[in-house]
Amino acid sequence: MSERIAWLNGQFLPERDAHVSIFDRGLLFGDGVYDVATVVQGALLDAHFHLARLDRSCAAIGLTNPRSPAEWADIMYELLRQTGVTEGLVYLQVTRGAAERDFAFPVNVTPTAFAYARTKRLLDDPNANGVHVVTTPDLRWARRDIKATSLLAPVLAKQYAREQGVFEVFMHEDGVITEGGSSNAFMVKDTVVITRPLTHSILAGITRHMILDIAEEAGIAFEERPFTVLEAQSADEVFLSSATTFVLPVTRLDGQAIGIGEPGPISRTLRALYIKRALALTAGLKPAAHEA
Ligand code: PDD
Repeated sequence: MSERIAWLNGQFLPERDAHVSIFDRGLLFGDGVYDVATVVQGALLDAHFHLARLDRSCAAIGLTNPRSPAEWADIMYELLRQTGVTEGLVYLQVTRGAAERDFAFPVNVTPTAFAYARTKRLLDDPNANGVHVVTTPDLRWARRDIKATSLLAPVLAKQYAREQGVFEVFMHEDGVITEGGSSNAFMVKDTVVITRPLTHSILAGITRHMILDIAEEAGIAFEERPFTVLEAQSADEVFLSSATTFVLPVTRLDGQAIGIGEPGPISRTLRALYIKRALALTAGLKPAAHEA
C-alpha cells in the first residue's frame, strides 16, 4: 500500500505531510485526550460509545471537542476508505493546541485534532490461546477515567512487561488490581465474573461495558468489586479486555499458572460471544452503507 493517509485539522494528508508544532501542548504537557475504536469487516464497532467517551474526556479537561460525533464518524469512515483498512483500529486525538509554553490554559488556542487508521489482526488473534501478565505498582495520576495522552506511567509499566517477555501488565495499588496497562482486568471465581467497579481509578472500557452486557444476556453472573493480585492468582480464570484485543484469556500471572494454565470456559465463551456480536453489528455497517 502507498504511504498512509492521516487526517489532521480538517485535511486528509500523506503521513509525511501531517505535522504539528513543537509548541503543541500535547507534545509539551501531554495536554490532550484520545480514543481508539475497533474496525471489523471494514466497519467501525461501537464507534458512538468511543466518540461519547472522547467527548467526556474533552469535557473533563476543559477542552472543546472540535468535531461532533457525526463529523468524527465521517472522518473515520473516510480514513478507512482512503487507507483500505478493513480490520484494525482508528486512533483519534485532540490536544489543547499550540501556544507559548505556559502551564495554565492559553487564551484563543485552537485544538489540534488528528486521526489515523491501522491494520491489526483482531478476529483471528493468536493471543486468544492465552497470554501471560505480570503485575507492577500503579504509578498513574488520580483521574484514570479520562483517556489522557499523558501516558508515561503506562509506557514504563508496559515496557516492564515487555522486558519480562509477557503480553501485558496489571497495575495494582497495595496489592489491589486497578487495570491493565491498556486494558481492563477480570477474574472468574466459582463461575462469577469479577471486575473492578467504575470510579476515577480506572478507564471505563467500552469492551468491559459490552462484556458485562453480554454476560448478563448469556446468564453469566458478574460482580463489580475490587480484587487483589493474590485472589487473581488463585482464581479459576483471569482475562483482560480492550477494543483491540476483545477478550484475552490470561493463563499466567506473575509466572503462576491460572487454573490449569489454559484459557477457561467462561473466557472462551465471552470472547466467542463478543466476536459474534461484533460481526453481527458490523455486517450491516460497511462504509458504502454509511455513505449512502
Ligand atoms: N486502551 N484501560 C486502559 C488504561 C486502557 O488504555 C484501555 C484501552 C482500556 C480498555 O478500554 P476499551 O475497551 O474502551 O478499549 C482500559 C487503548 C486500546 C489504547 O490505549 O491503545
